Amino acid sequence: MVKNRLLKDTISGVLCALATIVLLNSCNSSNKKKATPTKTEIQNVSKTATKAKPPPYLAEGRKVYRQVCLTCHQANGGGVPGLNPPLIKADYVLGDKNNLLEIIIKGSEAGLARNKSEYANVMQGYGMLGDEEIANVASYIRNSFGNKADPITAGEVAAYRSSIKK
Ligand code: HEC
Repeated sequence: MVKNRLLKDTISGVLCALATIVLLNSCNSSNKKKATPTKTEIQNVSKTATKAKPPPYLAEGRKVYRQVCLTCHQANGGGVPGLNPPLIKADYVLGDKNNLLEIIIKGSEAGLARNKSEYANVMQGYGMLGDEEIANVASYIRNSFGNKADPITAGEVAAYRSSIKK
C-alpha cells in the first residue's frame, strides 16, 4: 500500500512537472509571436525599403503627364466620360508598345482611328516631345493608376520614330 502511494505520488509529480513544462512552453511561444521587433530588425526593414527606390521614369513621366496629358485624362487617369477615355487597364496603355507610342506621337481622332466614338474629343499628336519625355510619360502611365507593365525606353521611342519615317 505504502509503495503504491509512493508510486502514485511520483507519477502525479512527474505529470505535474510535465504540465508545467508544457504550460511554460506555450507561454514562451505566444510571447515570441507578440515580441516587438528589435532595433536591428527595424533597421533592416528600412534598409530594404530605401533600397527599392522608385524608378526615375515615375517622377519624370509624372511631370510630362501633368503638363501635357492631365487636362484631358485627369490626375487619376480616369478620363472624362464622353470626352476623353480613361487610361486605367486600357489595352492601348498596357498592350503593344508601338500602339501606345503611335497614339502619343501621332494622336488619335475620336471614333476614327480607335473606334472610340463614345469619346468626342480629339487627341493631337505629341511628336514634338523628346524621346526621353515620351518614354517617361509612356512608362509612367503604364505604371500608374493601378496599371502594371514594363517601361518603354528612349531607344524604343527612337526606333519607333525611325520605323514610321519611311
Ligand atoms: C485634348 C485632350 C487630350 C490630351 C491633352 C491627351 N489626350 Fe490622350 N486621348 C484623348 C482622346 C479624346 C482620346 C480618344 C481618341 C479616340 O477616340 O480615337 C485619347 C486616347 C488616348 C489613349 C488611348 C486610350 C484607349 O483606351 O484607346 C492613350 C494611351 C492616351 N490618349 C494617352 C495620352 C497621353 C500619354 C497624353 C499626354 C502626352 C495624352 N493622351 C494627352 C484626349 C487627350
